[in-house]
Amino acid sequence: MSSLLFSPLTLRGLTIPNRAVVPPLCQYSAGEGMANDWHLVQLGRFAVGGFGLVFSEVVSVLRDGRITHGDLGLWNDDQIAPLKRVVDFVRAQGAVPAIQLGHAGRKGSMQRPWEGNGPLGPDQFAKGEVTWDIVSAVAQPIGEGFLTPAALDAAGMARIADAFAAAARRARACGFEAVEVHCAHGYLLHQFLSPLSNTRNDAYGGDLAGRMRFPLDVIRAVRAAWPEDRPVFVRISAVDGLDGGWDMADSLAFAAAMKPLGVDVVDCSSGGIGGSATGSKRVPRGYGFQVPYAAEIRREVAIATMAVGLITGPHQAEAVLSNGEADLVAIGREAMANPNWALMARGVLEPGTTEEVFAPWPPQHGWWMEKRAAVMAALGDPPA
Ligand SMILES: Cc1cc2nc3c(=O)[nH]c(=O)nc-3n(C[C@H](O)[C@H](O)[C@H](O)COP(=O)(O)O)c2cc1C
Repeated sequence: MSSLLFSPLTLRGLTIPNRAVVPPLCQYSAGEGMANDWHLVQLGRFAVGGFGLVFSEVVSVLRDGRITHGDLGLWNDDQIAPLKRVVDFVRAQGAVPAIQLGHAGRKGSMQRPWEGNGPLGPDQFAKGEVTWDIVSAVAQPIGEGFLTPAALDAAGMARIADAFAAAARRARACGFEAVEVHCAHGYLLHQFLSPLSNTRNDAYGGDLAGRMRFPLDVIRAVRAAWPEDRPVFVRISAVDGLDGGWDMADSLAFAAAMKPLGVDVVDCSSGGIGGSATGSKRVPRGYGFQVPYAAEIRREVAIATMAVGLITGPHQAEAVLSNGEADLVAIGREAMANPNWALMARGVLEPGTTEEVFAPWPPQHGWWMEKRAAVMAALGDPPA
């Protein structure tokens, strides 16, 4: 029996073996932007676990564009080799390695989430961490007590667009096959998009066209730096979920504007302009709560979309595809809970003999699992 979730998807010259995706999951565990063993295991286990497309966490294009001291980066060539080691392992498992590139803007120079998600404080200073100057669309902090960013001028914006392009070239040197521009969750490019955080009255603010200008400049720069035969994704916060904020009509216009620039997939998230995206209470939560955004953009703009957000079950994921709501389904926290989610989901959606069910597993595990399944079938239900 075949499923949509485990059918391949071709984007430009890239074929992704299945549509189960691990979205970017920031680990805040790098030093000076360098990938290490944690990142190898973090992404490696998802590749072992059968996901077709495995995204890196957000990778900062500039040192000052980091959210925290622990963010990954590709702002210099020394950062290529350690990340390439992770990419090589992901690819060797048959998964497609993808990267998200971003800049934190006014959400930079912060504590790691588990340290408080606030501005750096005495505990971080005691470890030798220091604050750095941050930038945004306007000189408006994210909240009380946070650093005030400097408003970017045209030269500053051009420098950041160039940094996105340079990081994309380094990402390709690492071996990544797809790149995503992070325009969501209240980070720099979202800060330009949302009327709540962009009150500029020059060409890069004001109406929707003005607010989209810099993010579209960045998308253009990344597209030009990225191989023609490899796809570009853009992650958006489809809605701010706040009065007077970015809304679905804006997202439809943004998706329509990025499509002719050569964007292949819109990855539809939400929230974050006023604080942490995953901690935000603004957009009501429910299973698959962001799927309607992916569905509407796919339908209205005729562009491929990725759905994400509280998608946890194999049949739920399959339904997103069979309903025509998205082309790819991302599984974030559920994959952290069960890195073998994709292998397990395949067994649920494509049942068969134990030999068939375990054939897609890496032989180091599958060979044993198949034998055990035969024993367990004879034994009956295991003890609780
Ligand atoms: C630990 C963690 C780190 C995250 N880091 C990023 C990130 O780097 N970039 C991003 O766009 N979203 C990030 N997100 C959001 C996820 O990509 C995803 O959209 C979100 O977790 C909702 O999907 P889920 O319900 O399947 O987890 C992060 C989420 C978590 C839980």
